[in-house]
Amino acid sequence: MPRVAVIPGDGIGLEVMREAVRVLEAVESRFSPGCELVHWDLGADRFLRDGITITDEEFASLSNDHDAILLGALGDPRVPGNQHARDILLGLRFRLDLYVNYRPAVLLDPALSPLKAPGDIRLDIFRENTEGVYVNLGGTFKEGTDRETAIQEDLNTFTGVERICRAAFEHAVKRGRSRVTLVDKANAMPAAGRLWRRVFALVASDFPDIDTDAMYVDAMAMDLVRRPTRYEVIVTGNLFGDILSDLAAELVGGLGAAASANVHPGRHALFEPVHGSAPDIAGQGVANPLGAIASAALMLDHLGHAEAAQAVEEAVVAAVDGGVRTADMGGDRSTEQVGTWIADRVLSGG
Ligand code: NAD
Ligand code: IPM
Ligand code: MN
Repeated sequence: MPRVAVIPGDGIGLEVMREAVRVLEAVESRFSPGCELVHWDLGADRFLRDGITITDEEFASLSNDHDAILLGALGDPRVPGNQHARDILLGLRFRLDLYVNYRPAVLLDPALSPLKAPGDIRLDIFRENTEGVYVNLGGTFKEGTDRETAIQEDLNTFTGVERICRAAFEHAVKRGRSRVTLVDKANAMPAAGRLWRRVFALVASDFPDIDTDAMYVDAMAMDLVRRPTRYEVIVTGNLFGDILSDLAAELVGGLGAAASANVHPGRHALFEPVHGSAPDIAGQGVANPLGAIASAALMLDHLGHAEAAQAVEEAVVAAVDGGVRTADMGGDRSTEQVGTWIADRVLSGG
């Protein structure tokens, strides 16, 4: 019986996760995957209340006693520097070594895209999730003076690059995609660029049927807007993957609907919407729950419940098609109304 840790977190994380749980309860009634949902109170409220972000025991339990983690969002303007979000979210990614951050972007409805003629966009972004500038190596010197210097190192290892490239190519084969594109900034960051390009080519040689190419990240940001259907699978570093995945999400229907999986294949997995805690709309009941619900679908698939995952995905598409949309998608439904509609659809079988 799979145990799922549910961490709603902060802001709209709490609102969208309520709907993801509602949908998972409907899945339970219809498909009986036997998921046990365990609620975890981690986030800004707890940090402000108890001064604790997450303990070693909690890490150990999330790591050892759960089959997956479903997370809403972390980030709160009341916490300076969002220390709790770094400890919890980046802590989980790093300490569970969740090196694959898979962020698919599939066009739901052409009218939702800001592009005039979006075409059939289907992008699978593979973001390296345990290295890059996120390792927080470096430091601040002469802080607070006019000679302050901040160094934020960019860590790239053979092992780290190899395993994310391999994950991207394996995904391409599994999903029948024909091309994997490497995105880097090898012209300005040559040491990292040399490693990424060499290892990418090395891994590619194991996949002779998959085409490859490489793009600088600035040109990719431009080209994703100009001709997004040219790209299929993108593999890139931590920071570029963060940025491009928000861009890709917006091209296909908005950040509110984008889902992601943070995975160490065969070991641990954490699922979360791509968006954050959105303090600007938190508490209003208007947040789009589709990203959280689609993340729950990715989780069901990961746990081996493909049929249930598909039912949830179909219900999400049906909601969008049927105009059951929150304000960010031009609709007038509340977070709860969209979640309830999708849960009912899953329950009734469509
Ligand atoms: P954000 O993703 O929270 O919001 C960006 C914009 O998109 C806002 O205008 C917001 O209203 C809108 N938006 C986001 N999700 C939406 C949804 N589901 N429905 C409708 N509109 C939505 O990014 P931000 O404002 O830069 O960050 C806010 C906080 O969230 C920060 O503390 C940030 O660090 C944190 N954050 C956390 C995660 C995470 O937990 N995975 C991801 C991104 C940002
Ligand atoms: C994301 C977020 C995080 C990131 C922040 C909250 C640290 O933007 O999950 O995309 O940069 O990875
Ligand atoms: Mn982000």
